[in-house]
Order: sequence, then C-alpha cells, then structure tokens
Amino acid sequence: MVSSQLAAHRPYGGVVPEIASREHLSNWPLVSRQTLEKAGLTLQQVDAVAATRGPGLMGSLLVGLSLGKSMAYALGKPFHGVHHLEGHVFSPFLNSEDESAREAPESFLALVVSGGHTSLLSVAGAQVTSLAETRDDAMGEVFDKVGKRLGLAYPQGPLVDELAELGDPTRHPLPVASTKESLDFSYSGLKTQTMVEIEALERAGVDVAYDPERELPFASPVLDLLAGFRFAAVEQILRRLRRLHRRQPIGLLAVSGGAAANRLLRRKLSGWAQETGIDLRLVPLSYAGDNAAMIAHAALLRQRRGVTDDPMSTEAESRIPFAG
Ligand code: KG4
Ligand code: ZN
Repeated sequence: MVSSQLAAHRPYGGVVPEIASREHLSNWPLVSRQTLEKAGLTLQQVDAVAATRGPGLMGSLLVGLSLGKSMAYALGKPFHGVHHLEGHVFSPFLNSEDESAREAPESFLALVVSGGHTSLLSVAGAQVTSLAETRDDAMGEVFDKVGKRLGLAYPQGPLVDELAELGDPTRHPLPVASTKESLDFSYSGLKTQTMVEIEALERAGVDVAYDPERELPFASPVLDLLAGFRFAAVEQILRRLRRLHRRQPIGLLAVSGGAAANRLLRRKLSGWAQETGIDLRLVPLSYAGDNAAMIAHAALLRQRRGVTDDPMSTEAESRIPFAG
C-alpha cells in the first residue's frame, strides 16, 4: 500500500517540508488500516514495528518515527529505527506484489540512485562499506532540476526520462563526468552544462516551451538535448561499474532507488550484465521510489540477525552516515 503526496507538492515545483509533515500525519491512519485489512491482520498480530530514523526531512521523520516508537512500546513489540539507505539497498530482493521477498545473499554490491544519493556500496552481512559517493548532486536531483528549468511539474525525473526517449543523444552529446582514478560520481557539472545548453537553444530562437498537447511535447533540439543529458548521466554510472568490475569482478549487483526506474539505466545495466554474466537484481519498479515495504523488509532482515532498537531512545536524524 503506497500513499502518495506528490500532488500536494506539485504546485510548488518541489517538496515543501511543512506540507510533507502534515500529509504524513493525515495519511497514516487510513494507510495503516487499509494495509492491515489487505494483509488480513490485526495490530496485535504484527511481529515488529519499523520506522525510518533518517536521513530525510526532520518533520516527516518525526511523524513516522514517533508513531512507530509509540506503537511498538504500546504493543510490546520489537522496534527498528531503519536507515533510509538500508531500505533501498535490500529492496531489489523484494518481489512484485503479493509474493514474499527473495533471500538476500550475504554479500553483494549495491548501487543506490535516488534524489539524495548516488552510492556504490559493498554489503557483507551487517557490514556495509562505501566504495563511491556523489561528490555533489545526486542523479535524481539533476533530473529534477533540468526538468524544472524546462517548466515541468514535480517530480520532474520520470518525465525527463520519458521525454529523453523521444530524442537522439548523438545529436547533442554532453561530456561524461570524470573523477580520475576515483569511483566517485559527480553530477553538478552535467547539470550546469545542460542549463547552459538550454539557454543557448533559447538564444538561437528554439522554442523551449513544454506543450504536452503537441505530438512532440518539446521542439526536437530540446528532446535531443534531454537525450544527451540522460546518456551522459547514465554512462557515468556504467563507466564506474566497468572500472570496478575490472579491478574486482562483481558477482551480484543490486540496483535500487527512485532513479533506478530510469529506462536507459535499466536497459544498459541489463545489457552489460548479460555480456559479463553479472547477476543483476534491478529493483521492481513498484519498489524503486520511496516506500514503506522496503523499510519493513530491511527491519525483518535486522530482526533475523538479532538486532533491534530501543523505542525509548531512538532519535530521528536528518543526516546519518550509513556505510563505513
Ligand atoms: O528514492 P526516491 O523516491 O527518493 C529519495 O530517496 O530521494 O527517489 C526520488 C528521485 C527523484 O529525484 C526522482 O525525480 C528520481 O528519483 N526519479 C528518476 C526517475 N524516476 C524517479 N530519475 C530519473 N529517471 C527516472 N525514470
Ligand atoms: Zn529514497
């Protein structure tokens, strides 16, 4: 069961923290009730309670975490304050609706691409090590910003991806960011370059207005630019993965996060995995964007490892490191 508050934020072009907290408060009773009904369970039959402890917007975290802590305490059930990234990392092992999750292996490589993270992590049991991080913007974030510059509604990422399908990336190639020998990512240069190119198109008299009623919602030079932008964004990830694979062969790669819904990223990763024989687990589309199932799933894995948190002392934090 996923309740979306995207429509409430759309008029503002991005997430408004105050609105997010209020929406959480008003949505949770119905969502919880419907989820229990669908699962055919009463609250007393629940085995454990989990909530996100961070990172994220403090107001929203406080609503969810306070509810989770109170529920666990009142029901006398184990409690889990889960790191947001931990939810994403294990989400590729979730199956589509109504099927239970597949067993997560002991060790694997995780790629999380979202609005807040572009991270490459090595997972070995409870031990998570960071191999690469973005040095500036996250991949999803630049898709949103480029889309916003073109007047698209929030969240712009999925629509930019869809529009890029209509363009030809070879007609407007953009440089793929390099971070020398490091596996780190960098997206702010690509964002700035794309903005500059949009301005250049405008100056050259190209109509950059978005009109969903037209057969092509943007003039084709704009679609080509979006395709070039998406190609450079995705190719950066493939280059880092190829380099890593040459250094230490990758066995299993689990890809998650909102931007893991990106069509080109999914196609390219699938092709590469076929060539190399890497066991690729792409998060099912229904669990790519933020969802509660991934938090519950991560909590279940923690519980199996014998880990729980004290509901009285778990605090929300807007920034928490995840990996060592
Ligand atoms: O994981 P998520 O729901 O929230 C965060 O933890 O950030 O990811 C949301 C991000 C947004 O920036 C959204 O625009 C981006 O994922 N996104 C996409 C696509 N679908 C969602 N970015 C690129 N291509 C997509 N198809
Ligand atoms: Zn997320």
